[in-house]
Amino acid sequence: MKKFKYSEITPESIYKKRRFFIKSMGLGFGSLSLSTLPFVNNSIANTNQNKVTSFKDITTYNNYYEFGTGKSDPYIRSQNFKTKPWSIKIEGEVEKPLEISMEEILSLFPSEERILKLRCVEGWSMIIPWNGFSLNQLLSKVSLTSKAKFVEFESIYDPSQMSGQKFPVLNWPYKEGLRIDEAMHSLTTVVTGLYNQKLPNQNGAPLRIFIPWKYGFKSAKAIVKIRLVEKMPTSSWMWASPKEYGFYSNVNPNVDHPRWSQATERIIGNDIFAPRIKTEMFNGYGDQVANLYTGMDLKKYY
Ligand code: MTE
Repeated sequence: MKKFKYSEITPESIYKKRRFFIKSMGLGFGSLSLSTLPFVNNSIANTNQNKVTSFKDITTYNNYYEFGTGKSDPYIRSQNFKTKPWSIKIEGEVEKPLEISMEEILSLFPSEERILKLRCVEGWSMIIPWNGFSLNQLLSKVSLTSKAKFVEFESIYDPSQMSGQKFPVLNWPYKEGLRIDEAMHSLTTVVTGLYNQKLPNQNGAPLRIFIPWKYGFKSAKAIVKIRLVEKMPTSSWMWASPKEYGFYSNVNPNVDHPRWSQATERIIGNDIFAPRIKTEMFNGYGDQVANLYTGMDLKKYY
């Protein structure tokens, strides 16, 4: 496996923070590879995708249709978006419905750094040093009923602040969903920050979900409601175009999107002549999540 200098693959803030950790393990900087970082999947460490994406790329090349459909629209138009006060309702098939403020969330669930890869259905990817915690920690507060088979996430609806919602591009508010075992998987992350900073508005502040083995659109931003339900919910993208967007949307190089091959991907931040890399099944997290889909025909359940 190719080795990378630690200073080459990590931003300075993390680099400094980890010095102590590295020293205490008795390792030299030169011997560290991405695979030694938390949550990084083997596929990242073993391919030529060896750099954490820059803060600039992560925060200026976004999909967030509430603020427009252009990649730079979210950065340009979301800066005044109000994220305080903010609370999240957890309701539906639960014994103890809950409304919890952002402050309570931050104090109850300490965030850790999770360097995870985002693979967009449009065929590009980034490696993002998120800060967050597992969704299952939050869901443990509400006691699920036996009918809680799926989870639905709902993003904020506020056309006065989000000009994109004045147009019927999607069925607002943005909705996404997971099967309950997917939601309970520890890789399913509640994101509250990135690069050890408060989550930028354009990336889904104050809180978004991130599911690294699924296409990026499953990871809804600016969440205000989490509803436990018995029946599979219809996500905004399924509603818009059911033939293109299935409920599962696991990253799968063998199942193409009608308009895009999913076999390869472009690494955001590489120069334009850099070759595309092969897309990995489950975005490289198969060793951790493939067992959720044993016996399922993933061509049918795309
Ligand atoms: N969440 C909301 N509410 N609205 C959106 O338009 N876009 C999705 C997802 N979450 C989207 C959303 C898509 S298509 C992708 S690829 C990711 O957010 C992009 O996340 P990023 O901008 O933080 O990279």
